[in-house]
Amino acid sequence: MSTIRLGDEAPNFTAKTTEGEINFHNWLGESWGILFSHPADYTPVCTTELGTVTKYKAEFDKRNVKVAALSVDGLVSHNGWINDINETQNTTVNFPIIADEDKKAAILYDMIHPNADSKLTVRSVFVIGADKKVKLTITYPASTGRNFDELLRVIDSLQLTAYHKVATPANWNVGDDCVIVPSVTNDEIPNLFPKGYTEVKSYLRLTPHPNLG
Ligand code: BEZ
Repeated sequence: MSTIRLGDEAPNFTAKTTEGEINFHNWLGESWGILFSHPADYTPVCTTELGTVTKYKAEFDKRNVKVAALSVDGLVSHNGWINDINETQNTTVNFPIIADEDKKAAILYDMIHPNADSKLTVRSVFVIGADKKVKLTITYPASTGRNFDELLRVIDSLQLTAYHKVATPANWNVGDDCVIVPSVTNDEIPNLFPKGYTEVKSYLRLTPHPNLG
């Protein structure tokens, strides 16, 4: 088991998937990535999650993000279950599902939490940057399906803050004002943020979204 922390390099692995064998880093290429585990095939919440991810593919593509799902089930199971996902969620699954039967990737990414379930992966999410560094980790229990709108929102924040000296406040969404990071001095602001800013407190300075309008 290894603990993966923000800023760590995402561990590489090779795996069988429903779209062929992959070397994870090579498969990511220059893209950002989301690696997310689910407890098991042919289960109700997971079925809705993978159907939802399929429907969001265009949104992930727009953000240059590749998505891969993972469970410890095998390829025969994954491929059979895909038929059910497509049928019940009115989709055509359009991303690889990793068949991690030997738990190699699950162990690398610490996706099995023995006090929750000794054999199955929990609902882990890893967002990986184009530099292969881990940008975000979230863990949900088996009983709670994920909110993929939140994942898109977080990716928008991660990609914005990677290139501008801003952070995003609570409940931020694209288009909302951003926070100027504390390391920027007031003298630097006109150059960096020509749209201007509002000083609520010396440490809380808001500026319009740098890329919009
Ligand atoms: C589900 O996906 O519905 C699920 C999987 C494992 C445990 C509980 C629910």
